[in-house]
Amino acid sequence: MVHKILKWAVILCGFFFFRIVSSCQSTQVQLYHNAQLAPKHVQAKQAQGRLGMVATAHPLASQTAIRVLDLGGNAVDAAVAASFMISVVRPQSTGLGGGGFMILHHARQGLNKVFDFRERAPQQATQNMYLDHAGQPKPFVWQGKTYKSSSVDGGLAVAVPGLVDGLLRVHEQHGKLPLAALMEDAIRVAREGFLVYSSLAKASARRAPILAAVDASRRLFYPQGRPLQVGERLVQRDLAVTLEMIRDQGRAGFYQGKVAQQLTQSVRKYGGVLTQQDLDSYHMKERQPLMGRFKGSTLVTMPPPSSGGVHILQMLGILSQFDLSADRPGAVETVHLTAEIMRHAYADRARYLGDPDFVYVPVQELLAPDYLQAIAAQISRARATPSHELVHPDIQIPQESRSTTHVSIVDREGNAVSTTQTINHSFGSGVVAQGTGVVLNNEMDDFSVKPGVPNGFGLVGSEANKVAARKTMLSSMSPTIVLDKKGAVDMVLGAPGGPRIITAVFQVIVNRLQFKMDLYRAVQSLRLHHQWLPDKLMFEQTLLSPQDQVALQNLGHTVVQDPWFVGDIQAIAREGGRWVSVSDMRSEGVALAQ
Ligand code: GLY
Repeated sequence: MVHKILKWAVILCGFFFFRIVSSCQSTQVQLYHNAQLAPKHVQAKQAQGRLGMVATAHPLASQTAIRVLDLGGNAVDAAVAASFMISVVRPQSTGLGGGGFMILHHARQGLNKVFDFRERAPQQATQNMYLDHAGQPKPFVWQGKTYKSSSVDGGLAVAVPGLVDGLLRVHEQHGKLPLAALMEDAIRVAREGFLVYSSLAKASARRAPILAAVDASRRLFYPQGRPLQVGERLVQRDLAVTLEMIRDQGRAGFYQGKVAQQLTQSVRKYGGVLTQQDLDSYHMKERQPLMGRFKGSTLVTMPPPSSGGVHILQMLGILSQFDLSADRPGAVETVHLTAEIMRHAYADRARYLGDPDFVYVPVQELLAPDYLQAIAAQISRARATPSHELVHPDIQIPQESRSTTHVSIVDREGNAVSTTQTINHSFGSGVVAQGTGVVLNNEMDDFSVKPGVPNGFGLVGSEANKVAARKTMLSSMSPTIVLDKKGAVDMVLGAPGGPRIITAVFQVIVNRLQFKMDLYRAVQSLRLHHQWLPDKLMFEQTLLSPQDQVALQNLGHTVVQDPWFVGDIQAIAREGGRWVSVSDMRSEGVALAQ
């Protein structure tokens, strides 16, 4: 009881601190303010402490991570617990049917490790599997009705899930507490339910057609013939049983036996090609972290098959070529330069990035000082470069989602975990495997499915990211840890948001390390985004005044105020001898301290 009172005291203190901080805005920096999120559900957007720290995209996930740290668990234990919980409470974003990346900093050993448990293409996947006889993208058709592209909706969109294998193996290698202790809260919440919140309800409305079409999805996420409603209780009994099977049988509880059978049968029922052999052969990969330096700090970030780490380092490297002494955040000159740097990075992303186990990804070349200088030399501070001048000949178009979620954790020993996890689009493929509660991903859509056809986000890719059996699709997920000059953790961060992940993480790092903002401001400052194609400088809310917009248009930019500016950064940093954790105002997340 005392423990519970203390925990709520911490949450309330965090909340009041956040209210104070958010009321004293800087004259230079415009902060995001989301009135809808205040104060009904006690939003603790910032917390401070000296022991363990947590930032996740849902209060229950943050609370379970803190509970695990209180029990003596380490950062890995807390991250595993938060991941299972977030699979339950953000079924639109992530889950057992998805995958992700994790970066671990082990303080005592000074080690950085990267775990890739992203989904992979099934063995029966082929390059043209999403095209009809005329070479056009084919839709998913079910019971005579036509849905979205077959790489987005239905069974064919489903790649081999990796999350469970990844979490279990990372826990085996680096966890301290028994798995059962880490999964207890998630199992209880799956069984007893939790209250539906706004973005979950909206996601179920957005994905209503496919959710209503698939039997097991309809029962969960389209009850009584309508989308979920805010405030109603979402109970996932089948998911609770699946979690118990994983708790009791480990990997076999998911990749073999009854659950595995239901996964493959459901995928195949809705047109997919997932087999038991695919599940048997799935194993997480450990990769070398991608390391780089900026302003005296060392960044430990995600290598391919993520494009995130490469392009965050590339953008920081190009930025470092400029004299920024007169720049200030949000000023026209700075926005222009930032957009130009993003434009160049995304043109390279489109051309070169893919699964390094299948294609050569020229990471060292893209980050070579000569190359970064050459790009910087092409950037004029007085004129925007039209994107078509950077067009490469062999473009293809992958789609990416606005879903996904991120968890940042630091424990009392200074170990840190940064993990981003996803099922791709909201509710993934829309297929819940019968009797399991598992929402299956549509990660196959992150491949370049068809050359030359712009998607909703206008992202472009190349041969490097074409579909092939057992290949990993390109990702933008960018879990990152920043180390100080002594090699200790200084910052842990990441975000959802498809292509906007990379620019969001980049801007938070620049805000903090270049513009010396505290973490709260660095996260809540309004952001911009440019991804080469479409050739648009997208900006959030009031980042640009009408005069600034005209000034940028005069430089040659097409400026667009974009209502969708996801980011949902979850971050932790060391400030003034203590830790601060911050959860983005753009979503429902909560920052807590132990
Ligand atoms: N599915 C989004 C990403 O991996 O970038």
